[in-house]
Amino acid sequence: MKLKRAVFPVAGFGTRFLPASKAIPKELIPLVDKPALQYVVEEAVAAGFTTAIFVTAEGKAAIEDHFDRNLRLEAFLASKGKEDLLRTVQQVGSLVEVVAVRQKQALGLGHAVLQAASLLGQEPFAVLLGDDVIVGDTPAIGHLAQVHRETGASVVAVMEVPQEEIARYGCVAAQPLGGGVFRVLDLVEKPAPHQAPSRLAIIGRYILTPAVLDELHRTPPDPSGEIQLTEGLRRTLRREPLYACTFPGRRYDAGNKGDFLRATVELGLAHPELGPAFRQFLQEVVRGLGATSA
Ligand code: UTP
Repeated sequence: MKLKRAVFPVAGFGTRFLPASKAIPKELIPLVDKPALQYVVEEAVAAGFTTAIFVTAEGKAAIEDHFDRNLRLEAFLASKGKEDLLRTVQQVGSLVEVVAVRQKQALGLGHAVLQAASLLGQEPFAVLLGDDVIVGDTPAIGHLAQVHRETGASVVAVMEVPQEEIARYGCVAAQPLGGGVFRVLDLVEKPAPHQAPSRLAIIGRYILTPAVLDELHRTPPDPSGEIQLTEGLRRTLRREPLYACTFPGRRYDAGNKGDFLRATVELGLAHPELGPAFRQFLQEVVRGLGATSA
């Protein structure tokens, strides 16, 4: 079955990015000159997805606006002869078909995905988290889609992380099948490092079958009141197989201030217009650091 729909849960408060995320959705904070979320939507488009379902919340309408046409701005740019900028804003406005649904309370990632259920029918779909920006030549979600086409099953992206960091992620116990693909045996959300079944952390890319939605409908909230996607997947394992796979590219957690800075530097260096001057600037900064530490 063709994969067309991609769900982007963007209803969280982004508390790790305060105060920047107080009035601006953290997903729209730019990495160089593009909102973090635009990189993630472009990844889905590059992998062939044609519909973006944003799960938004109060105060986040700017996300839909960003991916919509802005005819007044377009007319203004055209009247000023700013053809390059006109093309840039037209491109982002016509990237994908946009659908928005609301998550009225931030009750967890599983709950956010459930808000899109009535739009998904009985087709498999993708979930991409705007926090996880993956920089690379081929779209990471396309890699998962390929494993889904071969297995017909749900697939989660995984990455090896240092043991002391596993408590920040969902974690899988998995049997390696070769080529970076694993058969998932169990999942646990944010395990204590000494109890984690592996160092394979779930990263924000998923291809999910309708069975996962069925199970999420039945998944009770955890002690903090949230419905966890990881728990929904764990329950789905009882009725169908689940795969995990590593992915090409470098992943940044753009919801974390330190990683956001690192992503800004890498993307700044790779920027076709800004890159060369930025590289020179960084070299000066590094020389200055050498002089200070000498
Ligand atoms: P995070 O936990 O990383 O995002 O959830 P957050 O809650 O916005 O950020 P912090 O931790 O407080 O800084 C991962 C993704 O899931 C979405 C978030 O918007 C983010 O893109 N999410 C999370 C929802 O849409 N709804 C929720 O109830 C929780």
